[in-house]
Amino acid sequence: MFAMPQKLLVTLFILLFTSFATASTMKSVSVPSHTAPKQPILIQGPMPIEAEYFAGLLSNVKIESTGNFTFYIGDLNGYPIVVTQTSKGVENTAAATAVAIERYNPRAIINQGTSGGHDKSLNVGDIVLGKRSVNVGNLKTPITAEGQGSDPFNWIPMDVMASSGSAGESSDAEKIRYYEGSPELLAAAHAVKDSYKRGKVVEGTIGSANFWNNEIDRMNWLHKNFGTSVEEMETASAALIAEAYQVPFLGIRVLSNNLTNGGKYDPTTAKDNQEFVKNVVVQYISTLQ
Ligand code: 5AD
Repeated sequence: MFAMPQKLLVTLFILLFTSFATASTMKSVSVPSHTAPKQPILIQGPMPIEAEYFAGLLSNVKIESTGNFTFYIGDLNGYPIVVTQTSKGVENTAAATAVAIERYNPRAIINQGTSGGHDKSLNVGDIVLGKRSVNVGNLKTPITAEGQGSDPFNWIPMDVMASSGSAGESSDAEKIRYYEGSPELLAAAHAVKDSYKRGKVVEGTIGSANFWNNEIDRMNWLHKNFGTSVEEMETASAALIAEAYQVPFLGIRVLSNNLTNGGKYDPTTAKDNQEFVKNVVVQYISTLQ
């Protein structure tokens, strides 16, 4: 009366066998140790001529547009890269940097493009690696009475990050804030600088503000007081945001013009700079693996 029906016995046997077989297969599956996706490198350029060439070097490109920004998401030699066309100026660039950090969590950021020389020894086609960058539009004026005019050579540097108090009142805000370029990115740039044939590649100070100076005395004043090698409209604003989020950052700027030594504007420099930046990125990636 306790004998199991034969059908039930067979079912039990099959169940036992399959669960044993599954358990032993699971044991033999090995989990790869590096499953986390790689963080992309973010390359920024303000204008189409300063972003599209680099975007064209990418494979498997997906385009996302938001605000005034276009993000080209792809890869270079299998490594993830996001190229941003930020649009010109400090507001666009700061916002494009914050949006990209929040969306793509980059491993490092390079802001690159054209610039105007403040250093007479630099020629159109030379490249400045931003050992540091500075917002040269952050200025405070001395107090003068009505009718006394305006003297830009007496304006005082102002650090908007100095304190949470009013910059107009506090004297601790009367200083120049420099943003340091990442030593690792600088090292990668130095390692490939011989690949650049159009001019020299030097370290320097990139001065940013929404301005285009054509007054040589004003350029000389900035060169003397802020140590600027070149001026442009973006790098320091991206550097401020990168520093706030602790993302390694470097500005790489080619001279497309230099009034201080008669260097005429040449937009073809924008592509040559992107070609050099590509070599920097490939070198930097090789140090990460
Ligand atoms: N002054 C200011 N910006 C310059 N640019 C190139 N040369 C200069 C210069 N002499 C860059 C800016 C901006 C665009 C107008 O070109 O960074 O993106």
